[in-house]
Amino acid sequence: MLTDANQTTAYLVSELEALACRLLAIQLHGLGLRRSEDLLYLTTQHGNATPDYFHPWLAESLRYVAGVEAGDPDELWRQWRERLTIWRQDADLAARAQLLDACLTSLPSLLTGEQPATSVIFPGGSMALVEGVYKNNRISDYFNQVMIEAALAYIESRPADAEPLRILEIGAGTGGATAGLLAALVPWRRHIGEYCYTDLSTAFLQHGTHKFGRNNPFLQTRLFDVSRPCAEQGIATDHYHLVMASNVLHATPEIRQTLRNAKAALRKGGLLMLNEISEASLFTHLSFGLLEGWWLYRDGALRIPGCPGLSPAGWQAVLEQEGFSPVLFPAKKAHGLGQQIILAESDGIVRQPIAKMERRAVPQSTTNKRNGDFGPEQDETTSDSWRRRVGEYLRELVASTLKIPADKMNLSRPLEEYGLDSILVVRLTNAFNEQFKAIDSALFLKYRP
Ligand SMILES: C[S@@+](CC[C@H](N)C(=O)[O-])C[C@H]1O[C@@H](n2cnc3c(N)ncnc32)[C@H](O)[C@@H]1O
Repeated sequence: MLTDANQTTAYLVSELEALACRLLAIQLHGLGLRRSEDLLYLTTQHGNATPDYFHPWLAESLRYVAGVEAGDPDELWRQWRERLTIWRQDADLAARAQLLDACLTSLPSLLTGEQPATSVIFPGGSMALVEGVYKNNRISDYFNQVMIEAALAYIESRPADAEPLRILEIGAGTGGATAGLLAALVPWRRHIGEYCYTDLSTAFLQHGTHKFGRNNPFLQTRLFDVSRPCAEQGIATDHYHLVMASNVLHATPEIRQTLRNAKAALRKGGLLMLNEISEASLFTHLSFGLLEGWWLYRDGALRIPGCPGLSPAGWQAVLEQEGFSPVLFPAKKAHGLGQQIILAESDGIVRQPIAKMERRAVPQSTTNKRNGDFGPEQDETTSDSWRRRVGEYLRELVASTLKIPADKMNLSRPLEEYGLDSILVVRLTNAFNEQFKAIDSALFLKYRP
């Protein structure tokens, strides 16, 4: 199965990337971007601030297009659109091609700072464009399956009287890896104590609950940034038997720190299971490379040049140095397809800072009203009454979009305390635009009570 995927897809992927590379050159040249420094002029011309991470992005892009003969732009776009209809019919390629098309066509507006990359990759806050990249194509499915088999082998090796199995998934996102694992765990349901579905954004947790909650009563969701210590985020330490992260860990600033945090969640002898990119590619550079998270890394010496991923040898070295042994690569023969599976057993030695008490994220009670929060029992003037009614209306609108009970929202608290982030802000903007005209997402980001 993998051999077929290898042969049929490899040709189409290389064709897709070759055309994408020429279009990248056309887009960059069209904006006058021929050297790294040119980005500064672009910012001056367009008046918007191009996000800083586009500087390393451009440097890497220029390496990709060096020596590429782009040809006639109109002809190239025509060819691209023609091939796109073919790629879209190929189950293994459709999601990649569609995502690349969205990114390539939007490139000028991203580079001139007119719109954020999140609005292209997650249009309207939707996951639809990225979802198919991580599942329902033979390459992703193969690597996900290798990870599932490793999890099952671990579970089967546990003694019959072992404590209930606890699994932590880091960066579960839209559940590309979760779906297959939960399905494979059906025969083991009686043995599962907890499946903790975590990510940075409440939007993903809502997605996880909606998709998997009903059939998996042991599913919990929690916000977790793996680049920060577990305890300060309420993630139990020395607790989980399996910790899984699929296409996540490379997106953190310091891989050693990240591994220490993931290890802290594990029991001694527990298994860290990673699905990770194995090499730099134009596809990832032109898609996820447009997001700020791609360029967060500060430990470039450990990474593949121009990309946040680590090579198999890089993972092996850093995991062993962080006290994981053995470190295994069960999909070694398929690393050429751009992914790798890494299994690493914890020696139980944990390095975490002494926990700080976390500021409680969402106020539990809204009964203590503060300035700016309005309650019916106040002695109202007419304008107070209007303010209260408008406040209630806005509260309902925000609460229903963020999927929290309206009576748990205090209007005098910053929206970030209720989980507002760059994805939810797009949904909130859309919800407001259905009711009002020309609402800009900056409104929610600037608003401070
Ligand atoms: C490429 S997606 C993969 C999603 C999912 N694991 C899958 O395979 O379909 C990466 C996910 O990692 C999450 N992520 C990025 N940085 C993270 C961090 N520091 N801590 C936890 N999750 C993170 C993102 O929010 C996103 O959902």
